[in-house]
Amino acid sequence: MVISEEKINEIRRSVNIVDVISDYIPIEQKGKNYFAVCPFHDDHNPSMSISPDKQIYTCFVCGAHGNVFTFIMDYENISFIEAVKVVANKTGIPLDISSFKPKLKDDKLENLYEIYDFANKFYQNNLFTKDGSEALSYLKNRGFDDSIIKEFEIGLSTSNKVTKLLKSKSYSDNQLVNSGISSSKGDISYDTFIDRIMFPLWDLEGKTVGFSGRIYNTTDTSKYVNSRESDIFKKGKMIYNYHKAKDEIRKKKFLILVEGFMDVIALYKVGIKNVVATMGTALTNDQANILKKLSTNIILCFDGDKAGEHATIAGSKELQNVGLNPSIIRLEEGLDPDEYIKKYGVEKFNYHIDNVMSLLDFKIDYYKSNTNFNNSDEVAKYIRSVVEELNNIDNKIIVELTISKLSDDTGISVNTIKGMINKKIIQIEKKEVKVILDKYDKAERSLLYYMLRHKEVIKMYDNNKCYFPTDEFRFLACEIVHYYNKHKEMNLADFISYISDKDELLDAIKKTNEVNIPETYSTETITEYIELLNEHSIKTQIKKLTDEFKSTVDINRKTEIAKEISELKVSE
Ligand code: GTP
Ligand code: MN
Repeated sequence: MVISEEKINEIRRSVNIVDVISDYIPIEQKGKNYFAVCPFHDDHNPSMSISPDKQIYTCFVCGAHGNVFTFIMDYENISFIEAVKVVANKTGIPLDISSFKPKLKDDKLENLYEIYDFANKFYQNNLFTKDGSEALSYLKNRGFDDSIIKEFEIGLSTSNKVTKLLKSKSYSDNQLVNSGISSSKGDISYDTFIDRIMFPLWDLEGKTVGFSGRIYNTTDTSKYVNSRESDIFKKGKMIYNYHKAKDEIRKKKFLILVEGFMDVIALYKVGIKNVVATMGTALTNDQANILKKLSTNIILCFDGDKAGEHATIAGSKELQNVGLNPSIIRLEEGLDPDEYIKKYGVEKFNYHIDNVMSLLDFKIDYYKSNTNFNNSDEVAKYIRSVVEELNNIDNKIIVELTISKLSDDTGISVNTIKGMINKKIIQIEKKEVKVILDKYDKAERSLLYYMLRHKEVIKMYDNNKCYFPTDEFRFLACEIVHYYNKHKEMNLADFISYISDKDELLDAIKKTNEVNIPETYSTETITEYIELLNEHSIKTQIKKLTDEFKSTVDINRKTEIAKEISELKVSE
């Protein structure tokens, strides 16, 4: 870490978490604490409590938990250091900004950013020279005015120039080829993008990390050429327009996901700015998770053609995997959003936004349109597919309505269909039963919960060393003891800063909040937890030895094991 722990603590103490969070979301006071609708899950009641005493927040529903820095990190999707910077700015504590520079792990990354930065400026400038007149008129024809061109930093690559220029700035061929700006043939490196309109691709913070170049005056086989992946550009993690759209998305409380950046720009031009895109590739789990942090209310508006339909099915699956339930817009005549707005205007597009389809309705339509109703096998498959979807729906009215429609469509009786579903509904209800932690798991979490809040408990643990069976909890206990030995005190908010670069520990802290226990503890309960964990490790050892006993053929070893087991059983 570049900034000292002391400085970070000073910055954290200089603000009140209540004030900072209230800059982002509305909060209300109830007694000693403050409450807010949690921005980290699809919340409708104020589930997040903010403690001014402890300077931490906790969501009782999704378990989000942390200090002022982690709130900003998660809300803005920025790094810890960036979040520290945000808070330092608020309070006017001077930070030597140059000390942030080495944040980049090495010069290699720094160089990549510089190369992209330079190329971006170079391409943008080209567009307004005489070489750019044809490209410019192409853009104007598509409705791009100067302000949109500036806003999206659109440029032009001409014949083989940027490689030479960058080499004259003493970047090596190797660096340039690795960056993707240049390509190589034998020993010769040349521009990857020639005679294309250049759209910079930004990372989540808005730094240029790649390009997509579109043809405009040739009939090249590839309409777009995209930068290849590099250390700073990973297609599966990139979301086009993220940094520009995030505030608008939070304001509007929903986001629209489209297939290509041209569609983003088309919507932006008509004032719809809460829009982001993937790069025409299938939505990944990483992207789904990034989107989830922005908004839990997602509208998929992919191209209206068959490919867009398949992409909608695949994309919604990824979103469902991270717990989201997107809505769908299907555009008529196979149009993409850009074409649609050009043809029908923004009002008609807005009508679609106000009248989105539920994912369930979309899928039913999809299955239906792919079914030949003259073929019994296909009809049976259709019914099974819909029933499968209904298994994931816990709204009884929707289930009833769908069954009755399905019966109308297929001529199969409501009762028969219900028969297929009922069994499953029981399963759903079972799934909903809250996971009951086993007593050892609960002991681990509870012991840590108190260690995080009371130094006396850390001392008790340290004196009676027991073994946490779960790795992440064991690491957390270890860090707590280490922190306590160093500081001779336990301050939860500072401790969270201290481990902020270790996601798995932050996650473990979250889990300790899932146990419902009072803030205060008694020595007896702590002793009980420690004993439970000891009991668990003895049980584990016995289990291990028993397994070994079964698999060993050596009689002497068997006798030894039996002895060890009976000794352990005594102490159990
Ligand atoms: P316009 O034709 O300019 O309106 O663009 P579009 O957004 O309608 O393009 P399309 O729907 O065909 O493609 C969506 C996304 O897929 C684009 O933004 C690109 O990222 C990607 N894509 C499209 N064509 C190509 C191609 O030929 N090569 C590569 N690598 N990607 C492409
Ligand atoms: Mn298009």
